[in-house]
Amino acid sequence: MAIKHYLTFADLTLAEYEYLIERTKVIKRKFKNYEPYHPLLDRTLVMVFEKNSTRTRLSFEAGMHQLGGAAIYLNTRDSQLGRGEPVEDAAQVMSRMCDVIMIRTFGQEIIDRFAAHSRVPVINGLTNEHHPCQVFADVFTYIEHRGSIAGKTVAWVGDANNMLYSWLQAAEVFGFHVNVSTPAGYDINPALVSPNHQRHTVFANPADACEGADLVTTDVWTSMGYEQENAARLKAFDGWIVDADKMRRANKDALFMHCLPAHRGEEVSADVIDGPQSVVWEEAENRLHVQKALLEYLVLGKV
Ligand code: CP
Ligand code: NVA
Repeated sequence: MAIKHYLTFADLTLAEYEYLIERTKVIKRKFKNYEPYHPLLDRTLVMVFEKNSTRTRLSFEAGMHQLGGAAIYLNTRDSQLGRGEPVEDAAQVMSRMCDVIMIRTFGQEIIDRFAAHSRVPVINGLTNEHHPCQVFADVFTYIEHRGSIAGKTVAWVGDANNMLYSWLQAAEVFGFHVNVSTPAGYDINPALVSPNHQRHTVFANPADACEGADLVTTDVWTSMGYEQENAARLKAFDGWIVDADKMRRANKDALFMHCLPAHRGEEVSADVIDGPQSVVWEEAENRLHVQKALLEYLVLGKV
């Protein structure tokens, strides 16, 4: 079987996502019923973290364990990556000792170089430019609550960051539309969006972006790696909070999502994230289930 990597949301086709969604439902049901399912017995996942994480580490590590395999955590601080070992060399070595690798790092080019030298599948656990596992969990969560996402409208209010670029790719794969509103100076980088992307509209006013949306979503104003810009961002993003007024512009049954961690009172008000339209805990839990389906698929192919 040819090695398949998952470096951006666009790396899988709609047919593959449809298969993975069905597998996710099966795997989630088994988990809820305490039914052992060990297709990855004796397989090993290496997780490389160059940035902090709670959900990504936990969901991959628990998920691999639940599939019968083992997961090993490495970080920049105490591995040789932090002392300048080239990623190409690290990829050669790690992929001779394990079956699948997950990386959270800075530039997308790092994970691209890593994957080019890996003998086993590589999964993007977040880069500066993409967060495909999270958006896959979000799309799955939407479908679980509301059925097909094709033809729906997702409102993105906030920073043009890794989450947004994965949402824009997901819109092309699944056939939905994204209303985007970012403050001036924090606009979409066209180099990270496919040429002739037909499935998004930019709004200067964040409340207008929420009009008629089926899902409203946001993320932190300062992503990991951009901490030195925090003070400037707090000023620039004033008015971009997702609050009850903006949710009222969306459809009555609109959902609210946030990949977490969240800052109540900055990008989202407490009454929205803790309110009845919010599905943030389901979204976080679904990281576990979709990634188990993804691990099974990348290591074993269709089962
Ligand atoms: N949403 C997400 O990826 O969370 P962590 O940074 O905790 O992994
Ligand atoms: N955009 C955020 C997501 C964290 C899960 C970041 O990159 O820090």
